Amino acid sequence: MTEDPPDLGQLKTDLCAAIDVAASIDALEAVRVHALGKQGEVTRLLKTLGGMTPEERKAEGPKINGLRADIAEAIESKKVAIEADELEARLASESLDMSLPPRETPRGSVHPVSQVMDELAEIFADLGFAVATGPEIEDDWHNFTALNIPESHPARAEHDTFYFPEEAGEDGKTMLLRTHTSPVQIRTMMNEEPPIRIIAPGRTYRSDSDATHTPMFHQVEGLVIDRDITMGHLKWTLETFVKAFFERDDIVLRLRPSYFPFTEPSAEVDVGYSLKDGKRIIGGDPNAEEGGWMEILGSGMVNRRVIEACGLDPDEWQGFAFGCGIDRLAMLKYGMDDLRAFFDGDQRWLDHYGFSALDVPTLSAGVGA
Ligand code: DAH
Repeated sequence: MTEDPPDLGQLKTDLCAAIDVAASIDALEAVRVHALGKQGEVTRLLKTLGGMTPEERKAEGPKINGLRADIAEAIESKKVAIEADELEARLASESLDMSLPPRETPRGSVHPVSQVMDELAEIFADLGFAVATGPEIEDDWHNFTALNIPESHPARAEHDTFYFPEEAGEDGKTMLLRTHTSPVQIRTMMNEEPPIRIIAPGRTYRSDSDATHTPMFHQVEGLVIDRDITMGHLKWTLETFVKAFFERDDIVLRLRPSYFPFTEPSAEVDVGYSLKDGKRIIGGDPNAEEGGWMEILGSGMVNRRVIEACGLDPDEWQGFAFGCGIDRLAMLKYGMDDLRAFFDGDQRWLDHYGFSALDVPTLSAGVGA
């Protein structure tokens, strides 16, 4: 550019040449400091503007500022070019060795509660049961009233049940954390046409805490609604389930008369145990010297009031139901002795009692394989 004073034109040529030959980001940075840094050549020129007359400044200002902008731009585009070259070089030199063995990384495990739920789903699927679910935040009609649990029943007491504040429920409903999985019976009967065969595994809540009770725990509910269902069907189903679950044929059940508001008649179910190496194991002769009975679940024929509450005709439809603690099933089958450890999230406990994600329970391979 002919109108530039010789020193500016020369400076620009020199700096552009230096930018051009810079082969690395570091070298380029050195050129930038040399030109635009605090003591840089262009910076020094910019400082001379302050000592000029207004006319000189008007003439020189745009040229010097233009030089600064040109140099800054040249440096920036060279930077982009160098970075692209460096990336190219890296991509060309690095390669992935697919034959290397995988690195050992910590692997998660399946919690015994999840494992037992899968085992239950598998066993009952084989008997024609589907898995049903319902909300954990329930209203008191589904959790209590429809299940024939009267206002005065102790299960409804404040100290047993986690209630929500009054304003939480729409249409004046009282909301709570479900105290059992039985409300899923109600929801299923109201939403599906019989015949019905479901199990409903899930979380339940009660205001309870010691070595065998935690405020959150797990239950599985079973429900069959059909024509001509009897307690014989109930007993056979439970026996088949318990034998498949504990993987033993020498298991005997005992049905003891009991009371639940939602079943009539009701039965508490005990399983026979025997002693092996000083430990109680499910199965064997309960009448042997060291044997005995252990309660494992509640059951009965669905109360006609419950069937009616769901809009079905109890003269046409009958059925049985049962409810069982999943955590307790896991403890009995896999030998844990403190329920609280289930929910502590202690990695050592999970490593010890957890299951491999590949150990999917199947009836053919054994549900507890
Ligand atoms: N809902 C009962 C509880 O939480 C368990 C139960 C007992 C469920 C008997 C049933 C049943 O369906 O028939 O203690």
